[in-house]
Amino acid sequence: MPLKVALLPGDGIGPEVTAEAARLLTRVADLYGHPVQFSSHAIGGEAIERHGRPLPEETLAACLDADAVLLGAVGHPRYEGRPPAERPEAGLLALRQALGGFANLRPALCHPSLVDRTPFRADRVQGADILIVRELLGGLYFGEPRGFSSPDTAFNTLVYSRSEVERIARVAFDLARGRRRRVASADKANVLETSRLWRTVVTEVARDYPDVALEHVYIDTCAMRLATAPASFDVILADNLFGDILSDQAASVAGSLGVLPSASIGGQVDLYEPVHGSAPDIAGQGLANPIGAIASAAMLLRLTGGRPHEADVLERAIETALAAGARTRDLAAPGERILSTREMGEAIEHALVDIHDHQHAYHAV
Ligand code: IPM
Ligand code: MN
Repeated sequence: MPLKVALLPGDGIGPEVTAEAARLLTRVADLYGHPVQFSSHAIGGEAIERHGRPLPEETLAACLDADAVLLGAVGHPRYEGRPPAERPEAGLLALRQALGGFANLRPALCHPSLVDRTPFRADRVQGADILIVRELLGGLYFGEPRGFSSPDTAFNTLVYSRSEVERIARVAFDLARGRRRRVASADKANVLETSRLWRTVVTEVARDYPDVALEHVYIDTCAMRLATAPASFDVILADNLFGDILSDQAASVAGSLGVLPSASIGGQVDLYEPVHGSAPDIAGQGLANPIGAIASAAMLLRLTGGRPHEADVLERAIETALAAGARTRDLAAPGERILSTREMGEAIEHALVDIHDHQHAYHAV
């Protein structure tokens, strides 16, 4: 059975980076004989232009019919003045809600060959390997009521139920078991009631995981620690807004926002997207880094595709290309050769073929 992937290139650099992710998925499929079948659909600003709304019905239907969705990015300054519901971002939020993936996994690791691209001293950042588990369907992003009660007063609702906290906490603890068995739960329990509930429920869930160490960290302290001692974290568990902020901040560990992938799981259809946005300032110029999208494709192979070996090989291909000096503009040090988006995709593709052929040669012996 082919793996059915709905591609949603979206806005800005989205089409460029998803094209490279699709290139790599296609190559993996060819090499390992597990076919992938793509379809492509509009979302975000592009969908507003072509269909009058950010999440057309055709797009949603195709996504619900797929095994996984791979999205590029949404957002454009053209829609800056519009209310949230009429912006490209509304399409993404509606899609997340419809697909149901409440657990947003955002790994950030320090790639050995990019240590000097980070703002950290090597001894502080080496070995940093963080997984942010962000609650994706609740909290301030979706809480009702929301709106303007007058032109001068606006409000949003921060609401979490026990079951929402419990299910995301379980994902964090389960994943910690496959890693270094530590969970840092970020909250603001010294001020917010939702955080007090969050802390209570996370503490209760932790009782089912005596082998995993839990610490509660205030969100401000957490941000500070991420900026000073990133290697002190394993899994960070956070609500929707805190997780959004921390996951961009965690880019400092990787050296560029452009390399960070994400997966949203636990719902009807899994959604994969790079953490970076649409970056309209560099769109269409081949300057974007496709690694976030390609690494998202690797997560897709592992988590939806049930193809862990192929995921590992794709991630190793990324490491290999980086170690060999492949650099898009965001990663290049002064004087280093800069690859285009497509050249970076090709460099990773070559590394992938090499790794595959090597393994194949071993097996043949
Ligand atoms: C992200 C983005 C989105 C979010 C925006 C585009 C709605 O910042 O995926 O982190 O806030 O979740
Ligand atoms: Mn974000």
